[in-house]
Amino acid sequence: PMSETIAQLLLSWYRQNARQLPWRGSPDPYAVWVSEIMLQQTRVETVIPYFQRWMARFPSVAALAEAPLDEVLRLWEGLGYYSRARNLHRAAQLIASHYGGQLPTERAALEKLPGIGRYTAGAIASMAFGQDEAALDGNIRRVLARLFDVALPARSPAGEARLWELARQVLPPDEAGDFNQALMDLGSSICTPRSPACLVCPLTSLCRARQLGVQEQRPVLSAR
Ligand code: ADE
Repeated sequence: PMSETIAQLLLSWYRQNARQLPWRGSPDPYAVWVSEIMLQQTRVETVIPYFQRWMARFPSVAALAEAPLDEVLRLWEGLGYYSRARNLHRAAQLIASHYGGQLPTERAALEKLPGIGRYTAGAIASMAFGQDEAALDGNIRRVLARLFDVALPARSPAGEARLWELARQVLPPDEAGDFNQALMDLGSSICTPRSPACLVCPLTSLCRARQLGVQEQRPVLSAR
């Protein structure tokens, strides 16, 4: 089926082009979690030094759970959206007290922790625990809206439902973590919001929006 081809093309592109990021490689679930929270509202290049300082000072769930909140907030200074740091700290204390300091592996359990929504739970479950879970972020929304020519407003309830469904359908079994990150890298380097580089895109031959010449009109923004 076509989704098998998407996965094959994208994963072989990723093997050649993956960005080397400090939270990739042998993924410590705690490191994946921290990086995903930092990346929610902040660009990769900005996150890297914050991530490295954080991991040096709070190398484990236990270290974070035991740290005073003011020190946690001080390490976050400059990243903004401080509720992210407060939620990391509270969630670390819950993981220490309820899960023996190990992140739960199931998406549903992850989603019950403060600051972890559907996206972050899917990212952790797929990247840290090898589960077949989708993780729809802004880059993946745009790639999928183009690949499948989704004309629904991407942020409408129907658009969201359709994009999550596609994100699950295209997942290759047992490789969801790499596949999700490959979609993110494609979205940030090639399938960009304006002037996507379709000529060098590994999925160009499969892209419905490209075939129709409407790639720059996807995703459709919601009317407000
Ligand atoms: N943005 C959010 N999560 C990411 C990841 N794991 N790799 C690259 N960019 C990301």
